[in-house]
Amino acid sequence: MDTYHVVLFLHLLALFIGIGAAAVISICLFRLRAAQTLAEAGPWGQLAGQVEKVFPVAILGLFGSGAYMTSDVWTWSTHWIDVSIAGLVIVVLQGPFVAGTRAHKLKQALMENGGGALGEKARRLACDPALWTASFANVGIVLGIVWNMTQKPGTGGSIAAIAGGYVVGAAIAWRFARAPVVETAPAVEPA
Ligand code: HEM
Repeated sequence: MDTYHVVLFLHLLALFIGIGAAAVISICLFRLRAAQTLAEAGPWGQLAGQVEKVFPVAILGLFGSGAYMTSDVWTWSTHWIDVSIAGLVIVVLQGPFVAGTRAHKLKQALMENGGGALGEKARRLACDPALWTASFANVGIVLGIVWNMTQKPGTGGSIAAIAGGYVVGAAIAWRFARAPVVETAPAVEPA
């Protein structure tokens, strides 16, 4: 056992923490999108608000452990590392400044809505394309970085992996960033 591999373990631990939190946030987004009333939406909004606090821990853990391994064995001019750092910067900016801002607007709308059925504003913000795109594209970027860290491609391949992850994540988000079709009871002909 050497220090490098202990730090690599911590690097993966930080990744699992981040991916775990992202999975919980995704479930919250789907439940918020399906919610018809404040009682249905409230717990999922609260859970998302609590879980998002984990992201800085994961980001700092990834960067800190990655920086140690880079200085120890690799160099700061290694292409797959530099491109991945740029990808991580996009994740760090998109998370709080796009997803976080839109989530805050959704929270405000839920609080203004009051109890009972959700109004048009809260339902629209639960399907906000910017909120969904930033959330899912960030997961795509992270998976692109995992590709770079494991395959260690050149500059072009590293950029392609991150761009590909972004596009797939955004495409998934756009598939769901609209209100779900609510099944209505069939109309009954008057006798
Ligand atoms: C979202 C961000 C990141 C993710 C998802 C990620 C993911 C990974 C994964 C899965 C590995 C294991 C690769 C293997 O053992 O084959 C790894 C290793 C590594 N990562 Fe990261 N990483 C991220 C950020 C960073 C950053 C910011 C740096 C540099 C500052 C970095 C530097 C490294 C280094 C040097 C290794 C060791 C490569 C090896 O020894 O084969 N990582 N990373």
